[in-house]
Order: sequence, then structure tokens, then C-alpha cells
Amino acid sequence: MTADRKKQQAAQAALAHVREDQIIGIGTGSTVNHFIEALAAQKLRIRGAVSSSEATTARLKTHGIEVLDLNSTGELDIYVDGADESDRQLRLIKGGGAALTREKIIAAASHRFVCIVDDSKLVEVLGRFPLPVEVIPMARAHVARALRRLGGHPVYRESTLTDNGNQILDVHGLSILDPISLEQAINQIVGVVTVGLFASRPADVLIVGGETGVVSMT
Ligand code: A5P
Repeated sequence: MTADRKKQQAAQAALAHVREDQIIGIGTGSTVNHFIEALAAQKLRIRGAVSSSEATTARLKTHGIEVLDLNSTGELDIYVDGADESDRQLRLIKGGGAALTREKIIAAASHRFVCIVDDSKLVEVLGRFPLPVEVIPMARAHVARALRRLGGHPVYRESTLTDNGNQILDVHGLSILDPISLEQAINQIVGVVTVGLFASRPADVLIVGGETGVVSMT
């Protein structure tokens, strides 16, 4: 089975967590794109969606799903998003699609975070996927030096500008044994906007698509 088919199965299974009349936070990426398709096909009468990126906003609008401003919705019942890696405690690395800041904001504002992945994303220790860090452009070199002091090898993701007008450093070579401490340490570096470690606010449910169907972890 292809990775894309596994993502599609996980996305389909996430529909079971959505109720009529809810406002849903929606992430970014190929797995979430399957979720948007499934949501639109099911014709569940949701109240609307809060989007984590310009790309997701465009896709939601194509499907006739109303996109709402998080400042006027209050807290969200549910947030559905993919991830680049998850460990078994549902702590995540996100940001491969450069949407980490809005994703982290929506995760923080949601009661329930349902994360959908294919089984290649499940790891014992986070860090095989380079950790994305969104930075204010003028602080990029300063932040890179600080990340090196933390043991990582930051690489500037050239030709990527985030939806917020910032840049991304991808930090290679980390074996993240204490994700909460590392998230806090990177948050302390002046010039960092967001680190793509979702450890202090992990997923609540992880739906993993694999060869034999989906498995839900909580
Ligand atoms: C977007 O910035 C990321 O956090 C995505 O959620 C992550 O890259 C997963 O992407 P795919 O669903 O395309 O694998």
C-alpha cells in the first residue's frame, strides 16, 4: 500500500471525531488535504473551519467550506492535522510544510487535537526528521548559532518564506530525548517565532494509517 493511501485512510478515520455544528481547526499538508476531501464528500454540516495556512484556506474555499477568523470563534472543539513525526506519547515534529506557527496557535486554541499520519511517521525518538524552526529573517544567523550550541546542525530552507513573512531553519542531527525541555530552550532564543516541536501541547489522538488499516493511539 502506498504512503498516500495510508494517509487517506487515516484522514477518513478522523471524520469519526467530527460532529455537526462544530468549528474545526484544519492543518496543512497532503494528509490534511485528504481530510478536507473526505469532509466535503461527507457533507457534514459543520459551522466552518479555521485554517492554518494560505494553501489550506484556498482548498477549503474550493470545497465551499467557510473559513473563519480564530479571533471571532472562541476555543475550537477539534483540530485535525498531520505531522512529520510522532513518538508514542503523541509528541510531534511539525513544520515540514512551513505552516508550523499557525498550526501551533490552532493546536493551543483547541480542546482536542486529532493527528493523522501514515505509519512511516511513528518513531521511538523524535529527531530523524529535521526540526523546523521559524525565525524572524534578521535573526536567522543569531538563532542558527544558538541552535548549534544546543547540539543541532541548522540548515536554512532557502526559497521558503512562511505565510507570516519569516524564514525556516531545519535543525538536523538532534536526538530529542527530552522534547519538552528542548521546546522550552528553543522558545527562549530571541528571534525564534515558533519551534516545530509539539511536546508541551501534544496530540490527544493519533490516527496511524498502516498496511492493515488504521490504529488510534491516545
Ligand atoms: C505543515 O507545516 C506540517 O506540519 C505538516 O503537518 C506535515 O508536514 C505533514 O505533512 P504531510 O501530511 O504532507 O505528510
